[in-house]
Amino acid sequence: MKFDTKVVRAGITPDPTTGAIVPPIFQTATYVLDEVGKDKGFDYTRSSNPTRQMLEAQLAAIDGGAHGICFASGMATVDSCLKLLKSGDHVVCSDDVYGGVSRHFNQVLTRYNLNFTYVDSSDPDKVREVIRPETKMLWVETPTNPLLKVTDLAAMSKLAKEHGLIFGVDSTFATPVFLRPLEFGADLVMHSTTKYLSGHNQIIGGVVITNRQDLAEEMKFIQKTIGAVPSPFDCWLTMLGLKTLHLRMDRHATNAQVVAEFLEAHPKVERVTYPGLASHPQHAVAKAQMDGFSGMISFELVGGIAAGRTVMNSVRLCALAESLGAVETMITHPATMTHVDVPVEERHARGLTDGLVRISVGIEDADDIVADLEQALKKA
Ligand SMILES: Cc1ncc(COP(=O)(O)O)c(C=O)c1O
Repeated sequence: MKFDTKVVRAGITPDPTTGAIVPPIFQTATYVLDEVGKDKGFDYTRSSNPTRQMLEAQLAAIDGGAHGICFASGMATVDSCLKLLKSGDHVVCSDDVYGGVSRHFNQVLTRYNLNFTYVDSSDPDKVREVIRPETKMLWVETPTNPLLKVTDLAAMSKLAKEHGLIFGVDSTFATPVFLRPLEFGADLVMHSTTKYLSGHNQIIGGVVITNRQDLAEEMKFIQKTIGAVPSPFDCWLTMLGLKTLHLRMDRHATNAQVVAEFLEAHPKVERVTYPGLASHPQHAVAKAQMDGFSGMISFELVGGIAAGRTVMNSVRLCALAESLGAVETMITHPATMTHVDVPVEERHARGLTDGLVRISVGIEDADDIVADLEQALKKA
């Protein structure tokens, strides 16, 4: 099956009893056994559920993996991946990971004596320098949230193999349409399915995909033991959204290129970061390993905090919202929104400057998105 066919069909079978082309939602906690020790493959939904199983098969196929394991959120997925480790282990992590991930690592997992070093993973030499004997995992996000740094996955995979590390990739921004990290040697690829994969701002969810039997067994054990599982209804909604992933991603990327080029030429914009622009520091790596550049852009406004606030309060079509990866264009200003509580020095040290704006370009008409940004920038 070619990729686009897999997106629409893989893992999904019509309901055997009725022929319903859209499989039913198995909204049940419990399954009745035929006799002691004999079930129909299911006993309790925390362990497995037919709707979840179908979604897991669909997601695994799309990413080119053998096993998919779904969780109740992207964060529950990251947490469950880190549960592969034990006290005393050390993790090397991309320095611009989603803030929720670094908060989880720094404020929760350090309580269990896991240690983290953050490094610019777009530079393999910097990653090599911080690997220690206790390092057990390399966790890379590419492109990163929000600065869109791109990491060379083949180089990371080589390093991980040399040092016997589990290599995990958060590929939420790229989606399997544009990047399939398992092809570059990743052991685990994870997505917040809340974003592009479900695509319509309708659920919170996450998935990890792997080709390694040992890791799949361990992750399934963690899934059923801890129970951070998505509801059958959320799995079903995700399945419906997923069927148009390839079409949506095409449009997200085409629109994002138009918006990025518009912003790059705008006098009130100091700098635009989009992997599809020749000016992006890792444009060559992105071009080589990705089949497209997705829909996320960040840009630096002239005029800092005040300009950021004005643009946020002036947009009409772009939704002022902290999420990303859905059909609607969404815009955020980290300094006054997501990172308002982070001390200024720390925010600046992380590259989250006062005028930084992140935009998740939707699938509306690009002319309307540009027109909205143009009128908002005029006021800044
Ligand atoms: C790159 C990335 N990874 C993980 C997450 C966490 O996902 P969730 O919000 O589904 O828990 C997010 C959320 O924004 C994200 O952007």
